[in-house]
Amino acid sequence: MRYLTFALGKGRLVNDTMELLEKCGIVCSEVTDKNTRKLIFTNEELGLKFFLAKGPDVPTYVEYGAADIGVVGEDTILEMGRNVYEVLDLGFGKCRMCVAGPAQKRQLLEHHEMIRVASKYPNIARDYFYNKKNQTVDIIKLNGSVELGPIVGLSDVIVDIVETGSTLKANGLEVLEEICDLSARVIVNPVSMQMESERIRKIISDMKAALEQ
Ligand code: PRP
Repeated sequence: MRYLTFALGKGRLVNDTMELLEKCGIVCSEVTDKNTRKLIFTNEELGLKFFLAKGPDVPTYVEYGAADIGVVGEDTILEMGRNVYEVLDLGFGKCRMCVAGPAQKRQLLEHHEMIRVASKYPNIARDYFYNKKNQTVDIIKLNGSVELGPIVGLSDVIVDIVETGSTLKANGLEVLEEICDLSARVIVNPVSMQMESERIRKIISDMKAALEQ
């Protein structure tokens, strides 16, 4: 039996994902061990491997078949636009993709002004402003802490995920427009889906059943 490999996005989704898999009888406690520097973990009995990767890299590993299955936020899937099958909405990791900024920037959005937008999600930002709003904007790619953009005068607004809203609030920013709702998703490599159809379908249906419990 060949190993099936899971790629998990490091961070907030890992614990919920492993808890869900545990309910399906899939256990790999090393994955959530904060003290290890190991990157890949094996459950020999079930023929499964798990590795943790940066969120935006998860669809890449899955597209190239280095991982058969991935768990990652829908924001990352939309942004990366990789050739993967999105097979299950996990219902956790819920957040919203929003345009946010200081309250006084609201009118610049309403009047479709030429504004600067900072984001970790340039593709989502471009699609929203150019295709949905027909607004020409200048998009600046950042790699994190994007709330700094409007605070230090790099941009007028940001496009970012908002979960509790506490980061925005703590920095004097607010949601100005909502782009879409998001949650964690399971993705699968299209070739793996064919070659390992039975095992992968079983895992997905077990996860689905565990979510409905
Ligand atoms: C994300 C996001 C916001 C924050 C939103 O950042 O980019 O900054 O979480 O969460 P909240 O609404 O609950 O405050 P993350 O923690 O992933 O770090 P990063 O900014 O360094 O990417």
